[in-house]
Amino acid sequence: MQRKDAPERRHGDRRQGDRRGELAPLRPTFAQVDSSALRHNLQVVQAAVGTRTRVLAVVKADGYGHGALEAAKSFVEAGAWGLAVSLIEEGVELRLGGTSAPVVVLGGVHPGSEDVVVHRGLTPVVWERRHLERLSAAVSRAGAPPVPVHLKIDTGMSRLGVRPEGIDGVLDWLDRDGGRTIDLEGVMTHLARADELGADADATSAAQVQAFRDCLGTLAARGLRPRLRHVCNSAALVRLRDANFDMVRPGMALYGAGSGEAVELSGVRPAMSWHSKILGIRELPRGASITYGHRDTLQRDSRLAIVPVGYGDGYARNMSGQAEVLIRGHRCRVLGNITMDVSMVDVTDLPDAREGEAVCLMGRQGRERISVYELAAWAKVLPYEIVCGVSKRVPRR
Ligand SMILES: Cc1ncc(COP(=O)(O)O)c(C=O)c1O
Repeated sequence: MQRKDAPERRHGDRRQGDRRGELAPLRPTFAQVDSSALRHNLQVVQAAVGTRTRVLAVVKADGYGHGALEAAKSFVEAGAWGLAVSLIEEGVELRLGGTSAPVVVLGGVHPGSEDVVVHRGLTPVVWERRHLERLSAAVSRAGAPPVPVHLKIDTGMSRLGVRPEGIDGVLDWLDRDGGRTIDLEGVMTHLARADELGADADATSAAQVQAFRDCLGTLAARGLRPRLRHVCNSAALVRLRDANFDMVRPGMALYGAGSGEAVELSGVRPAMSWHSKILGIRELPRGASITYGHRDTLQRDSRLAIVPVGYGDGYARNMSGQAEVLIRGHRCRVLGNITMDVSMVDVTDLPDAREGEAVCLMGRQGRERISVYELAAWAKVLPYEIVCGVSKRVPRR
């Protein structure tokens, strides 16, 4: 019975102390991010391009799922010139987290975002006069120094950027501004097929790089020589050694992988591994059918481990029928359809496996390793989608 003078206990008590304790992750599923691997990878990239070429580390999409702030900190510590994000909001997150390095915003200047760009000292990528007009107005309103921008040229990706034939319109505008509100710090393009092997893809990349060089010529003829010319993403770093210019713009290489194994930069180390623990063991008879749709039927009396990870965590349902995990350093098959919160793993051949046992979903355990490429192949997606897809409810450690 509660004492009369004891404070009354209520459900949903929101006192700070209680909340902090309760919000600490209790579930055993987590992603481990190795910041020493992030720093190492930055140095591998730097060594590959040489000390005269700067590295713009791409940390968009929450640092490819690794945690943008942590990744940004590691890359800057290891010598990155700056950071690239896609969204203004991602740039603001870096600033609020204490990042003072240059932050290049790749995704353009939406109406209404220009004052934030100027206020937070971001470096937007631009390709339309409207971008410049918006920024210029924001600089004037704030009485701020010229805002640095990087001009994006669409040399064949047909996504963002001004096509070479449209470049004069932008340059006319810059001429009129005369550096009063806009500082053309950089010029860039993005390659469409750098991660493909083969002569046809190589010819596409070569043509894009040549178109970029031609545009640099157009700029130079008008007296414009931006300090930072950049083209290469991770795959281009590996495949196009003569296109490093003043800066490279890798993402995936810094997280320790490539868009495929064939274009992985030699020497990088995966920075993310993904882990859980066995929640319990089910002994099930031969003939039992497993999870939604009864996808698999047991061919023998079996022991199945309940692993608390599912597609709600980014462990893609599409991997059902192919996925394996590591337990006690052995590969064990995921049986049945992967569900939102739980996957069932066959541990019949590991009779000692028990509740609380470590499960490795991606990474190394003992001598075995499950790579991001394997998960990507099982799920029929890109390795990028695996790391970016590890959902918010999976704590990063
Ligand atoms: C414009 C731009 N540059 C660089 C990158 C980094 O690409 P990667 O992760 O393949 O190195 C991206 C990523 O999508 C991008 O959109």
